[in-house]
Amino acid sequence: MADVKAESLTKIFGTRNSEVYAVNSLDIDIRDGEFVVFVGPSGSGKTTFLRLVAGLEVATSGHIFIGGQDVTTRHPRARRVAMVFQDYALYPHMSVRENLSFALRNLKYPRREIEARVQQVAAMLQIDMLLARKPRELSGGQRQRVAVGRAIVRNPEVYLFDEPLSNLDAKLRTQMRVELAQLHHQLQTTTIYVTHDQVEAMTLGERIVLMNDGVIQQVGTARQIYEEPQSIFVAGFIGAPPMNMLDGELSRNGSGQLCAQFGDRQLELPGKFAASYGKQLDKPVVLGLRPEHISGSNGRDPGGSGIQVPVRPTVVEMLGEYILAYFEFGGTLLTAKLDPDVDCRVGETIELTLNLDKMHLFEPETGRVIPPGNETWPGQPNDCIIAAHNDRTRR
Ligand SMILES: Nc1ncnc2c1ncn2[C@@H]1O[C@H](COP(=O)(O)OP(=O)(O)OP(=O)(O)O)[C@@H](O)[C@H]1O
Ligand SMILES: [Mg+2]
Repeated sequence: MADVKAESLTKIFGTRNSEVYAVNSLDIDIRDGEFVVFVGPSGSGKTTFLRLVAGLEVATSGHIFIGGQDVTTRHPRARRVAMVFQDYALYPHMSVRENLSFALRNLKYPRREIEARVQQVAAMLQIDMLLARKPRELSGGQRQRVAVGRAIVRNPEVYLFDEPLSNLDAKLRTQMRVELAQLHHQLQTTTIYVTHDQVEAMTLGERIVLMNDGVIQQVGTARQIYEEPQSIFVAGFIGAPPMNMLDGELSRNGSGQLCAQFGDRQLELPGKFAASYGKQLDKPVVLGLRPEHISGSNGRDPGGSGIQVPVRPTVVEMLGEYILAYFEFGGTLLTAKLDPDVDCRVGETIELTLNLDKMHLFEPETGRVIPPGNETWPGQPNDCIIAAHNDRTRR
C-alpha cells in the first residue's frame, strides 16, 4: 500500500510547432488506501495521467512519488502498480489461468504460490470455473473480471483503472461498479480510476478529480463537487440533466432587495446572498440552478423559500421516476425535474417553484463561482429596478 503524489506533473506531446499539453502542471496528493476517480471529457488528459503514474509515458517535467519514493524516471516494473486497460489487453492465445499467472511467472514466483494466488483471486472474482478458457470464449463482463484479476494477483501498491467498464452494457456496468467498490473495501489498496462517466465518478470516488484540457478543475467529494462547484465547467459537467445556466444582471430594488433580471424575467434573490452578491451590482452574472431545484407544486403550497413562476412547457418527458419539463424562461430554455405526479402538459401554463436557496452565481468572463455569503438581508421583496439585461440563449 502506498500514497501517490504528483508535483507540477506535465506531459507535452508533439513537436515545437504543434504541442499538446496533455497533462499541465498537475498537483495531487492521493492518500494511502484512497479511491480517487479522475473524470473529465474526452481528451482531458485522464489516460495520460494514469500512464505517467504507471511509467508508460515519460513526464516532460514534474515528479511522481509512490510511497514517498520519487519514481518519475523508474521503469514501470519497479513501480509496483497494476493497470487495468479499457480494452482489457488480455493475451488472446493464453487461457484465463495463464493470463492471471503471467506476471507472477515472469517474476519467477514459485509454482505453488502462483497456483494458490490464482485460485484465490479467481474465487474472489467468481471466475474460477473459467480458468481453462481463452479470452475469446468469455463474455465482456467475464473478460473484465480477468483483467481485474490479472492486476490483483500481482498484489500491487496502487491500482490504475482506465475506463474498465466502458465496454459493458448498462446493467453489467452497474453490477461491476458495485463489485469494484466491494473489492476496494476488501483490499483497501490505493486506487486511481479514470472514467468519463459522472455516475461512476460520483458513486466510486472517495474523492473526485475533475479534469479539463490537462488541468485539474476541482478536487472534492461527490457532495462537494455537486453542491459547491467552483466553476461553470464543473457545475455543467456533474449532474444530469445538467445545471440550468441563465445569463443576467443583478440590481437592487427601491427597498434595497437584491434582484436578478434574465431577459424579460426578474427574480428576487434570497436574503442570504445579499452581502456577497450585492457586490456584483450591474455586472453580468450567470445564475446556475439544477433541474431538481425547480419543482412543481401541483396546486399545493410549495413551502420553503422558493419563488413561484408561471411557465409554459414546450416539451414534457415522462420517465416514470420523474418528469423532465423544458420551458423558456427569460430567453433561455430551462429544464425542470419534477415529481411524477405533477400535472404538467405541453403548452399549458404551470406554476413552478425555483428554489433559489440552491442557486449558484458565476462570473461569465472567468467562469468562476462567486462565493455566496451567509449574512441575512433585512429588505422586503418589492418591485425590482433592473439596470440592464442580457437575453442570450445558452442552448
Ligand atoms: N501519444 C500521443 N501523441 C500525441 N498526442 C497524444 C498522445 N496521447 C494523447 N495525446 C493527446 O493528449 C490529450 C489527452 O489525451 P488522453 O488520452 O490523456 O485523454 P483522455 O482524457 O484519456 O480522453 P478519453 O476520455 O477520450 O480517453 C489529447 O489531446 C490527446 O490527443
Ligand atoms: Mg482515456
